[in-house]
Amino acid sequence: MPMILVTGGAGYIGSHTVLQLLLAGYNVLAVDNFDNSSAVAISRVKELAGKLAKNFSFVELDLRNRAALEKVFTNQKFDAVIHFAGLKAVGESVQKPLLYFDNNLIGTIILFQVMVAHGCKKLVFSSSATVYGWPKEVPCTEEFPLSSTNPYGRTKLIIEEMCRDLYCADKNWKIILLRYFNPVGAHPSGFIGEDPRGIPNNLMPFVQQVAVGRLPSLTVFGNDYKTCDGTGVRDYIHVVDLAEGHIAALRKLDDPKIGCEVYNLGTGKGTSVLEMVKAFEQASGKKIPLAMGGRRPGDAEIVYASTKKAEKELNWKAKHDIDDMCRDQWNWASKNPYGYGRSGDSPK
Ligand code: NAD
Ligand code: UD1
Repeated sequence: MPMILVTGGAGYIGSHTVLQLLLAGYNVLAVDNFDNSSAVAISRVKELAGKLAKNFSFVELDLRNRAALEKVFTNQKFDAVIHFAGLKAVGESVQKPLLYFDNNLIGTIILFQVMVAHGCKKLVFSSSATVYGWPKEVPCTEEFPLSSTNPYGRTKLIIEEMCRDLYCADKNWKIILLRYFNPVGAHPSGFIGEDPRGIPNNLMPFVQQVAVGRLPSLTVFGNDYKTCDGTGVRDYIHVVDLAEGHIAALRKLDDPKIGCEVYNLGTGKGTSVLEMVKAFEQASGKKIPLAMGGRRPGDAEIVYASTKKAEKELNWKAKHDIDDMCRDQWNWASKNPYGYGRSGDSPK
């Protein structure tokens, strides 16, 4: 079976994808600097993979450490790379743009240079629906105009452009850019899940921390949007469906016709903040106290995906609905109220 390098493999989406890859029979080497993740995630993935854990190895490194990355490629030949590693907090990127450009852009450039040097030109890259900005209409198709309102989003746009340029210069590259909508939930075992550092920026990790008593209430960012109940609408996708989307993308890389292609990974369904909170309350039996707040700068009103291209060309479709997402998120949260750490521990 092919050998895949997964960067950011200890992170939220990375850890779920590594597990699905192993279960699908792939060999995986993951790298991560644990900047926003924990080594516990790696041990849990191994546990969940059982006998298939023998096909998995991990190297702690920062992608910007060219010598360390070179060593990995010298010791191991890779059939393809799935590139998750990057910083992703929008607010932090506005405060510290250079940190984001350094980590996300320099890290990616070094990765691509080392891939070229070792003849590995198959790539799946984690892009984001953030590149659609405030879409003029929904569902968002892959052809929509692209924009960015913050340095995080700009790193995604720049890397997408970089990939198109690479393919333009050398047709041996095979690249799939995956634009994720809103990944939520956790592996149904409750063994792995999202464990953000500090106060969560995203809706569901915040809701989860309210449910376990770590935070007092959820502030709803705006209830005056032109939506069913005034709150923002997003396309939430179960993280295991998202992980499966990467396997579909890897298979697509074997298509001789593939060059540099982009696919949305979403469900095609929009859910409001209040609908999501209600589904989580039902799944958890916990009341989530709400405070109404103003709109968050940079937020769009309604964002959801057109899933047609991924369904047709990747032969992939999300299977789980928001009730499944909330059930699995709560299963993870109730078993791990302090994520991969314990109450009283520092977060990582
Ligand atoms: P995450 O923070 O859980 O995972 C990213 C991992 O990359 C972390 O484990 C971090 O330690 C590692 N990392 C960061 N910089 C690194 C470096 N220089 N060298 C080595 N490792 C490094 O985030 P995630 O939610 O799993 O997201 C994975 C990717 O998907 C990111 O590129 C993110 O921008 C993108 N994405 C995420 C979402 C989302 O809502 N979670 C949405 C769209 C796109
Ligand atoms: C946010 C980022 C986006 C990034 C994505 C995944 C912004 C402006 N956008 O998108 O660039 O790609 O996360 O990391 O930060 N909400 C609340 N209260 C909260 C948190 C969120 O009401 O405490 C609302 C938001 O206003 C939004 C919805 O919940 O309507 C989802 O928010 P979030 O999970 O942060 O995702 P996005 O806004 O889609």
